[in-house]
Amino acid sequence: MIKIEHLSKKFGNFTAVNDINLIIPNGKIYGLLGPNGAGKSTTLKMMTGILNPTSGDVFYDSFSINSNPLEAKKRFAFVPDSPDMFLGMKGYDYLIFIGSLFDMSKDEALSSAEYFAKELNIYDSLNDYILNYSHGMRQKIFLTGALMHNPDAWILDEPLTGLDPESAFKIKNLMREHANRGHVVLLSTHILDVAEKLVDEIGIINKGELIFSGTIQELKEKKNESDSTLEELFLELTKK
Ligand SMILES: Nc1ncnc2c1ncn2[C@@H]1O[C@H](COP(=O)(O)OP(=O)(O)OP(=O)(O)O)[C@@H](O)[C@H]1O
Ligand SMILES: [Mg+2]
Repeated sequence: MIKIEHLSKKFGNFTAVNDINLIIPNGKIYGLLGPNGAGKSTTLKMMTGILNPTSGDVFYDSFSINSNPLEAKKRFAFVPDSPDMFLGMKGYDYLIFIGSLFDMSKDEALSSAEYFAKELNIYDSLNDYILNYSHGMRQKIFLTGALMHNPDAWILDEPLTGLDPESAFKIKNLMREHANRGHVVLLSTHILDVAEKLVDEIGIINKGELIFSGTIQELKEKKNESDSTLEELFLELTKK
């Protein structure tokens, strides 16, 4: 379970995220939706300790990302939206390096990564430099690195953008399996179709505020518009 309490971020005078409170239960895929600039990535970066919040906190089980970051960070994996890092490393070396952060030997690291690397079709490219990977291949190597230590919560910023249909299909299956094993999957997405088909609950962020959290069915009931699509409801809720 992830608990977000009064999470806010200001950049100077601009409030990017304003007082978000949210509980994401185990066993669910939770999708964060919102227009460009709404505050999704800023929220995920604060949740994962990449950005310091202006106020508020995030708890993984009972461990706070602010006051107990080491314990909190053992409990999740984060894949950012622009995976342009570690370009000078080969895929293998990157996975061995990530394994070492979790006290895995080289063999342990490679055997834990093997399943995801094969599933995502990058196993045969591990001997190449990440610099020479395509955008989708970089996403897949970082996803493999993030998932290989078997974290409880997966936090994925736009995980399906730019992936080919087969890879997107496999990642969606991996997410569902992880949630079905009783873990948390939190993703941000612009693809409303994905949200409608894959996600158990959605949170809609607009201008830094969480304006809805619940199932799509609950959203339709709240708006009293059972015939509307998620796209229609989303556009109405987030219109300028
Ligand atoms: N480091 C920063 N300094 C100043 N402003 C920032 C910074 N990072 C983000 N912002 C601003 O905060 C707001 C939220 O940005 P964020 O990246 O969280 O949006 P997003 O919902 O992830 O959008 P997208 O759908 O385009 O990925 C935007 O107005 C952005 O310009
Ligand atoms: Mg973003």
